[in-house]
Amino acid sequence: MNLALEHTTNQSGQVQDQPVLEIHGRASLRGEVKISGAKNSALAIMAATLLCPEYCRLRNIPNLVDIDRMAQILQSLGVKLARSGDLLDLNTSNLAQLKAPYEIVSQLRASFFVTGPLLARLGLAKIPLPGGCAIGARPVDLHIKGLQALGAEVYIEHGVVSAAVKGRGGKLTGAKVYLDYPSVGATETIMMAATTAVGETRVENAAREPEIVDLANFCRSMGAKIRGDGTNTIIIDGVNSLHSTDYPIIPDRIEAGTFLVAGAITQSEITLDGVVPEHLTAVIAKLEEIGSRIIIEDTRRLRILPGQVLATNIETLPYPGFPTDIQAQFMALLSIAQGNSAITETVFENRMGHGAELNRMGADIRNKSNYALVRGVPRLCGAPVMSTDLRASAALVLAGLAAEGTTIVQGLHHLDRGYENIEGKLRQLGANIERVTFH
Ligand code: UD1
Repeated sequence: MNLALEHTTNQSGQVQDQPVLEIHGRASLRGEVKISGAKNSALAIMAATLLCPEYCRLRNIPNLVDIDRMAQILQSLGVKLARSGDLLDLNTSNLAQLKAPYEIVSQLRASFFVTGPLLARLGLAKIPLPGGCAIGARPVDLHIKGLQALGAEVYIEHGVVSAAVKGRGGKLTGAKVYLDYPSVGATETIMMAATTAVGETRVENAAREPEIVDLANFCRSMGAKIRGDGTNTIIIDGVNSLHSTDYPIIPDRIEAGTFLVAGAITQSEITLDGVVPEHLTAVIAKLEEIGSRIIIEDTRRLRILPGQVLATNIETLPYPGFPTDIQAQFMALLSIAQGNSAITETVFENRMGHGAELNRMGADIRNKSNYALVRGVPRLCGAPVMSTDLRASAALVLAGLAAEGTTIVQGLHHLDRGYENIEGKLRQLGANIERVTFH
């Protein structure tokens, strides 16, 4: 498993043993890259295996620190896991614990996903309030409102969310839930909890992301009755129990989008293998608008060809709008566009920390709260930069590929949460990039 090195600080305050990426920029890339399984699908689906009282096999699981953390959380609850390549076998027959450990939960927001399945299966769950990327407040109020609507009693005390179904044999009851915002996580929590509830649950203003559809497909493969996923109304008819399954996770559209931007920012020809082009509609449309040439070769392959980089405006939105998880990568790209671009982040309130780091590389970005004005510059220049969150770290790597000279990207614990072997994949395409550790 792919655990990042922990850093230690010596007596003179220098950071030791912390790996960094050293990128010598302006290399032209060429070739084919295999896209890994979707992190965000895998995390939700791993939690959903708790609904099954038997055994599940998941395929196309990416090798990521976030996946390791979710595996540790499931292990702490009593699940037995065995990993072989991208296969993950989970034996969920004996759950020994109802409480997930704070040390891991605090590092992974998706750990809250176990709440719905634990409640559905056992009528009880105790989860410390989650952590994750520092990109905004990210409360779990919508998850909790949904669980309460299904009949759970929920208390938050000393930083721990305790949820229980009192009476009714510990079974949740189907209900109508309107989400104030189409939250991906809340939609998933409610959908999982409702799979074995008594009666029908209707989620209105549900999120429509492909990862929601993947989770619904996974639950259906265990016998759940779900319809409407992929639209803003999802209907779940509770069933008595679920059964074993063998399920492949969809490809990671965010990793795919990141490699498309890698092609655009380096003026290269790159083929992406193992993608669902339809999941990238907004990203492809924006790339084409600014001058990229993209060929959809078939249902699994995309090719980007060298093209122009013109300015544009971007506003992040829930799916099928432009993904917030690709905003940072586009900021890097638009920093070398011909003209001025405006980027508005509407999903998270604090997700533009990469602007200041890109400016260290010669970009001209001014941002105020969730808005950035990006004035295109002819070229970036290499510099030491610090990742502020997961997708910001990818943006800095992309900027480093395009920049003149050497870029040192620090804070790789962010990158390792969500990109499987990114430097290996980029090296295979011809990038001059190495992970180095200073002792
Ligand atoms: C998921 C993705 C993340 C992506 C995001 C939006 C996973 C593991 N992560 O995160 O990569 O950036 O969708 O596409 O799937 N909110 C509330 N109350 C809640 C829940 C959310 O106010 O109970 C707010 C959040 O603070 C945020 C917005 O809703 O401002 C969107 O969050 P949400 O869609 O829930 O994102 P996540 O599920 O956390």
